[in-house]
Amino acid sequence: MDSTAVAAAHPNIALIKYWGNRDDALRIPQNGSISMTLAGLRTVTRVRFGDDLPSDSVVLHGAPATGEARARVTRHLDLIRQVAGLTARAEVVSASDFPTAAGLASSASGFAALTVAAAHAAGLNLSATDLSRLARRGSGSACRSIFGGFVEWAAGRDDQTSYAAPLAPADHWPLVDVVAVVSTDEKDVGSSEGHRLAATSPLQAPRLAGAEARLAACRTAIRDRDFPALAAIVEQDSDLMHAVMESSNPPLRYRLPVSLGLISAVRGWRAGGQAVCTTLDAGPNVHCLCPAAQAPAIERQLMDVAGVIRVISAPVGAGARRLAETDPLTGLL
Ligand code: DP6
Repeated sequence: MDSTAVAAAHPNIALIKYWGNRDDALRIPQNGSISMTLAGLRTVTRVRFGDDLPSDSVVLHGAPATGEARARVTRHLDLIRQVAGLTARAEVVSASDFPTAAGLASSASGFAALTVAAAHAAGLNLSATDLSRLARRGSGSACRSIFGGFVEWAAGRDDQTSYAAPLAPADHWPLVDVVAVVSTDEKDVGSSEGHRLAATSPLQAPRLAGAEARLAACRTAIRDRDFPALAAIVEQDSDLMHAVMESSNPPLRYRLPVSLGLISAVRGWRAGGQAVCTTLDAGPNVHCLCPAAQAPAIERQLMDVAGVIRVISAPVGAGARRLAETDPLTGLL
């Protein structure tokens, strides 16, 4: 065989976080999560399955992937080959237009784009739900990036019941994630290892016990476009996840002093009447969520804070999709 497909996907920012798995191998999470998909930040991936290829090759950002990065992609290709009944090896080329491995969820856009491109190249004609289940196996948060807008991943109990679905389309509530980038270093401990450590924190059980109530509050805030309610639940959920991380054994500290300063600054801006709140994934960069009309002011204010390297604004946007070879986005590769 010789078959190629290209796909694009966006990262997402979790409003209610996924942290800890009931099944690490299948990535069945211990709690459901809600996110918004971020347009403007992209990963583009081309996959070619070819009978002429001696082995899988993976090029990320122009350089051959090695070690665990390559192995993780190869395991995902194996899964897709198994579903499609294929044996052909693959050539994977992928690039993103934003800093990776710094809490900007590159694994979400990466595995969403890889899943869509590889499924098409393998000749599979899958529903978005099937793609979401498959993407989850590569990276949990990737199952949410299959969809655009506001998305909920129902934890489920097994492979069949654990997948994401849209809660509301992107135009329901034009929010923007203004990301204050404070570091672009590779993180020492990735999310997959972090999920395994969650159970070592005495705070994980109480965090899980309140997850259903926070999911419900977040759904209602999105439905009613109620920013103060969203801000309260999003900041609490992020603080709970970081409390679990910081009290794990060994502890994981993703929040740097500069991150904590930004969280306080944004709380002050909100107390002063601006609609803006913060959330951090597994990295030090501070995601400041606000209505689109507020974004230019928040960008300027963030740039004035010492320690902010750059500011990246990403509006809520579309889900993963297949691209034509003529699409200008393929220029990223
Ligand atoms: C803090 O999806 O990156 O961003 O399944 O091991 O790839 P793996 O983990 P990943 O974990 C994301 C954790 C988070 C919160 C979230 O996105 O819900």
